[in-house]
Amino acid sequence: MLVTNKELLKRAQKEAYAVGAFNIQNLESLLAVVEAADEEKSPVIVAVTPSAIKYGGLSYLAKLIQTAAEATPVPMSLHLDHGEDVETVKKCLEAGFTSVMIDGSHLPFDENIALTKRVVDIAHQKGVSVEGELGRLTGVEEKTVEEREAVLTDPEEAEEFVKLTGVDALAVSIGTSHGAYKFKGEPQLDFERLKQIRERVEAPLVLHGASSIPQWIIEKATKYGAELSGARGIPEEHIRKAISLGITKINIDTDLRLAFTAAVREVLANSPKEFDPRKILGPAKEAMKEVIKAKMRLFGSSGKA
Ligand code: G3H
Ligand code: 13P
Ligand code: ZN
Repeated sequence: MLVTNKELLKRAQKEAYAVGAFNIQNLESLLAVVEAADEEKSPVIVAVTPSAIKYGGLSYLAKLIQTAAEATPVPMSLHLDHGEDVETVKKCLEAGFTSVMIDGSHLPFDENIALTKRVVDIAHQKGVSVEGELGRLTGVEEKTVEEREAVLTDPEEAEEFVKLTGVDALAVSIGTSHGAYKFKGEPQLDFERLKQIRERVEAPLVLHGASSIPQWIIEKATKYGAELSGARGIPEEHIRKAISLGITKINIDTDLRLAFTAAVREVLANSPKEFDPRKILGPAKEAMKEVIKAKMRLFGSSGKA
């Protein structure tokens, strides 16, 4: 059943759990998300980035996800992740997305507000929810206090941003970053900042760059030839704490990519005579599904559908 993020996140906020937003680019990643949601009876957000759209095609991906949503009783949203401009948003609205993110986080505050507000005006006319982002997701280790302040979300600005734009959810920067190399030293998130943002902002808060980079997946991929030394993510106890402090949507991409890669490498290494794509990609789908199911349990969304 296709629903909006607003609907999913309202309930999650009330019941203090988080809904996972999982990035997909192809049939296997979508099947992994949908089968995991079905088996865990969990609400879920299927996320598509502009570069995934470039890879898979907007209409192909949208129709695949809509087909999946029709076939399952779990509430599912079709979400544009890191939308870059109004044009992309408009195309996604035409294609039937139920939620869009407009990422103006690289822009000066006023320009981010203006762009986000424009998207809110357009999307809300169609009943589609909007996520904005304030603060930049770059690594904050080895940065001076001033440099950290410049990229992490300012609680006062967050309050003003939500008030002036009318966004339905706000992505915040508290020390996470995208990809597999989030920290050189000990993982550290600014939970005090998150608390202050929560006190000022009622809208659901979103954590991007939340992959944990499980060491067992790194070891498996490495065993079969991958080079991933130094990969490090957000520990699971940090994720639990972030949820307890008000994070209600959590974005995961990298952990799925790693699970996929480790599984493909394993099959190719162990079965050199195999050349049926289904025998190679099937285990990769299963590996992604297991990771997603574990996330749903960690986020507390299992059993909420
Ligand atoms: O922020 C989302 C992704 O991890 C980056 O995805 O390579 O599809 O742009 P992309
Ligand atoms: P990861 O790279 O930590 O998986 O973050 C994904 C994300 O934020 C997608 O928007
Ligand atoms: Zn992101």
